[in-house]
Amino acid sequence: MHLATASVAANLLPLSGIAQEIIYGPHTEIAQLHWNENFYGPSPAAIKAMQESALKSAYYPDLLIKKLIAMIAEQHGLGIENITVSAGSTQALSYLAQVKSRENPIATTQLGWDLHLSYAQNIGGVIVRVDNGDNLEINLADIETIANKNISSVSIVNPNNPTGLLINAGELRTSVIKMSKKALVIVDEAYNEITDEPEVNSMISLVKEGHNVAISRTFSKIYGLAGERVGYIIAQPDVIESIKKNGGSEFAVSLAGAAGALASYNDDEFLKYSKSKIIEAREMVNEAVQLNGLTALPSQTNFVFVNLGNIDADDFRDEMLKRKVLIRGKYGNFNNWSRVSMGNIEDVQRYVDAIPEVLNSLNNKVIT
Ligand SMILES: Cc1ncc(COP(=O)(O)O)c(C=O)c1O
Repeated sequence: MHLATASVAANLLPLSGIAQEIIYGPHTEIAQLHWNENFYGPSPAAIKAMQESALKSAYYPDLLIKKLIAMIAEQHGLGIENITVSAGSTQALSYLAQVKSRENPIATTQLGWDLHLSYAQNIGGVIVRVDNGDNLEINLADIETIANKNISSVSIVNPNNPTGLLINAGELRTSVIKMSKKALVIVDEAYNEITDEPEVNSMISLVKEGHNVAISRTFSKIYGLAGERVGYIIAQPDVIESIKKNGGSEFAVSLAGAAGALASYNDDEFLKYSKSKIIEAREMVNEAVQLNGLTALPSQTNFVFVNLGNIDADDFRDEMLKRKVLIRGKYGNFNNWSRVSMGNIEDVQRYVDAIPEVLNSLNNKVIT
């Protein structure tokens, strides 16, 4: 799905000559608000560590990766056998999805980030999707019913992408414990640190309590290290072993990535700053949405899912792109829902300023 958006950008933007340029970030003219990155990262400490580590790039990163795993384990009061790191959480999640899909179908939600599940599908795995409920929330009761029927695993994103909605922690906990007696429950917590109460909202404690649960986390979001590709999974040792046997290894993360992750993991000042900018941007978007007569779901993440009423989200995206603001188009049949990420404040302002103009130009285009 990322590739689809990228090709739209390539078609609509004057990017001639791009192949000759070396570009480390977004094209300078573009307000890049489509991939939920954090433009306030990486932290200064991470940048320093990555620069220093670059000088030692001739060497394999195993020692630093072991240190990163040990730090994550210590942070959560778990053993190193409970952790594996990977090139972004996508990699470990994909290995895990492939392993589980060989056993039995995987249950997931109709709306949710699911790139890893597409890899399972590509090797013949079956994915069972449970419809989202009213207001697009995750329907836990229906997922529980499915979890009772020969399902290898359940894959949930919380808070969810693209909706930004958070499941009540108590309800999720009860439901995950129940489901984990029948299937492995994978909870993707990519945006956990951005929620109002990260510790309360995390299901990592269930791993500690011995339940059959796997939690994924990433350095791509609040830590602003998406380009370095560092993520990890916390689970029971047998689940971690199954990921490693299928490709996960201590060479899955680069030296610079591990250095940046180590340096910023507990950088509270930076994390607080990043979160405050994300919330500031979110408030700008919510206000603009309201001012323009639209609505949005209450987000606990660094993106907002906007209801465009009778306007097609792909048309809205294309009109935004003409103004060099890059956002997501529609998700499946959710034709009138549009996701925008919180970039730096200036870029978010460009999105906000463009809304009335774009709505005006699309005024007569309605979904049939
Ligand atoms: C819910 C969710 N999980 C995982 C990822 C992938 O993250 P990573 O960069 O760690 O591979 C994303 C990326 O947008 C995401 O939204």
